[in-house]
Amino acid sequence: MSQSLVDALRLSPLPRPPVWIMRQAGRYLPEYRELRERHSFKEAVSTPEVAAEITLQPIRRFGLDGAVIFADIMTPLEGMGVEMTFDPGPTLRPYTLREVLELPDLDTDRVGFVAETIRRVGTEVPSETAVIGFAGAPVTLLAYLLEGGGSKDFFAMRVALRADTTAAAAALEKLAREMRVYLGMQVEAGAHVVQLFDTWAGLVDLATFESLAVPAARASLAGLDAPTIYFAPGSGHTLELQAKVGANGYGVDWRTPIMEAWARLGEVAVQGNLDPAVLLTDPATIASEVKALLNQVAGRPGHIMNLGHGIDRHTPPENVTAFVEAIRA
Ligand code: CP3
Repeated sequence: MSQSLVDALRLSPLPRPPVWIMRQAGRYLPEYRELRERHSFKEAVSTPEVAAEITLQPIRRFGLDGAVIFADIMTPLEGMGVEMTFDPGPTLRPYTLREVLELPDLDTDRVGFVAETIRRVGTEVPSETAVIGFAGAPVTLLAYLLEGGGSKDFFAMRVALRADTTAAAAALEKLAREMRVYLGMQVEAGAHVVQLFDTWAGLVDLATFESLAVPAARASLAGLDAPTIYFAPGSGHTLELQAKVGANGYGVDWRTPIMEAWARLGEVAVQGNLDPAVLLTDPATIASEVKALLNQVAGRPGHIMNLGHGIDRHTPPENVTAFVEAIRA
């Protein structure tokens, strides 16, 4: 039995687009908040029984076409000896470029819980639901490593990419190699699809995006035995270059009209691009926004319904039901 998400990524014509939601396993769900009362974020991620349960919560509630594994883009760095806490975003000591270069290779045994979570989810989801693995893209991981956590403008990463280009390129190559290993582990464990999150790549100029972000993202995904999605929100200026990453599909945020983005990306699948704010409105508004988006796409093969970025934690679950029903109506 094939999964409609996989079929869409292969550009097969489908009666309706597959749907899943970035950050679907999370705080807007009361059953997630309830479980998190008993387990810290890291404990939940590293305990396959709990991580699998959280992954399945939105599938049970909404019957989505993809089950994205509960973990974080920073999780594999813990398998490279990087220590961090989550409160709620990742917090770590700031690394220098040299320290990033000297990090040990990923020890997949130390993140074997992710593979185990994937195996568990695989035995429990309906056969038509795709299991989605993921990793952070090198530029985005480097941004957190050099900054020591979240930031609005990640100047440490932007300075490194301009001032110390050779070392930065080497650090990105290293992160790409390790993320390729990490994604390979996930595919081997049964992930049907993988997504690479490049949340902060849109902060860099076009030339740097082309010379550093694209090759690193491309190497992270090269030769995987599963269809791939690349997602760089806030990166409308880079759409033509993103196509060079070589993914099967691309996530598009809400700032660029979907068909304009599609024309600039080329013959690939496109995922998105409903503004997450729409899910904070009401069922009637949601239904009309979904209809408007589907009308623009007009059944073009390769469309995957999703938001333009992660679902907001204040989203009422009933609005997610309305979103899914509007697509299936
Ligand atoms: O449901 C899913 O999408 C799967 C799990 C998932 C999480 N994080 C769980 C999480 C995924 C795919 C991510 C990716 C991630 N993590 C990204 C890329 C996607 C994006 O939003 O652009 C980034 C940048 C991170 C780093 C990160 N982790 C931040 C900034 C935060 C805190 C802010 C926030 O949005 O919650 C986290 C913590 C985190 N990761 C939570 C969850 C459910 C919240 C933890 C909690 O329960 O308090």
